[in-house]
Amino acid sequence: MLAPAPHIETAIDPIALRRAFGTFVTGVTIITTVDADGNPRGMTANSFTSVSLDPPLLLVCVGKSASSFPAFNEAKSFAVNLLHEGQTEVSGVFASKSVDKFQSVNHDRVHTGAPVLTDCLTWFDCTTHNRIDAGDHVILIGQVQAFGTTPSAPLGFCRGRYANVKDPLPSGWLASHGMVVGYLIEADGNILLRADGKGGWVLPSAKRRIADNELKLDDGGALTLLPENTFLYSVFDVADSDPGYLIYRARLSHDSMGVALPPDLRFFSIDNLPYDAVPTREVRAMLRRYLRERHDARFGIYMDSRDGGRLAMIDGDAQPWLQTPREQS
Ligand SMILES: Cc1cc2nc3c(=O)[nH]c(=O)nc-3n(C[C@H](O)[C@H](O)[C@H](O)COP(=O)(O)O)c2cc1C
Repeated sequence: MLAPAPHIETAIDPIALRRAFGTFVTGVTIITTVDADGNPRGMTANSFTSVSLDPPLLLVCVGKSASSFPAFNEAKSFAVNLLHEGQTEVSGVFASKSVDKFQSVNHDRVHTGAPVLTDCLTWFDCTTHNRIDAGDHVILIGQVQAFGTTPSAPLGFCRGRYANVKDPLPSGWLASHGMVVGYLIEADGNILLRADGKGGWVLPSAKRRIADNELKLDDGGALTLLPENTFLYSVFDVADSDPGYLIYRARLSHDSMGVALPPDLRFFSIDNLPYDAVPTREVRAMLRRYLRERHDARFGIYMDSRDGGRLAMIDGDAQPWLQTPREQS
């Protein structure tokens, strides 16, 4: 269906226009600079746009009525800090007229001297490339001198409200390390798999990179794993642009065998694994290897390498690491 025909008038209703602009979904940023007295200044801004890769340029629009406008209008440098989903309060503080906005955040100087928020989704530290007068705003074009990013979920904004952007990262991706950590868990001749919501089955994933003695479930419960049977099993990449995969093999403790599982988790008999529904070739190959190695109770550790991967066999169960007093110091 077509949208109603636009009603072209010479006078545009600014309130209706602001509402119409507000239907465009954006992220939320804190733009920062340092004023002539050396004080950090900042404000919430969603007018951020990436402009050019070569040279690396971005822009933000700064309202002339903002109290920090003179600082941005004179600054030789500024930073744009994109917020993550847990930072609605930071956005609120920097959208206010508070005089001590920077008391509520940790910040650092990285390259140009403009304040960079220690905790944010992504930051760009820029020198001022150009300023363009544009009505009641000035378009500030920055040349990126340094930037950093994290895999957190972004904070969204639309129609004057904060919006959740469904985390675009794969389940199990560790925010701090950009890896999917999975568990190949056996219990009584069955392997635990998780429905991927697209008709496929994947390995259950963990929230931490270090091997845990339990697998935390989304419903708040946990399955206990036998520590002496939990060991690194496979480290591989699926594609250059994807996260790395780090898989542990583990065995469920007897207490956890009868625990009711959330609907997306299911045990499959080891002789009847749904290979055709496992979407990742590397994971299918790993499951087949597990089956072979389990038969002889001799497990290997696989490591991806440019020449096709390497497998090292290890005998027996994992042993606790007993440090000598010399190693402890
Ligand atoms: C989500 C959001 C986005 C905003 N985007 C902008 C923007 O792009 N440009 C702008 O000048 N003000 C923007 N504002 C308003 C400023 O943050 C607000 O006027 C602030 O009080 C300015 O701070 P100051 O007066 O201390 O400089 C936005 C506010 C919010 C809540």
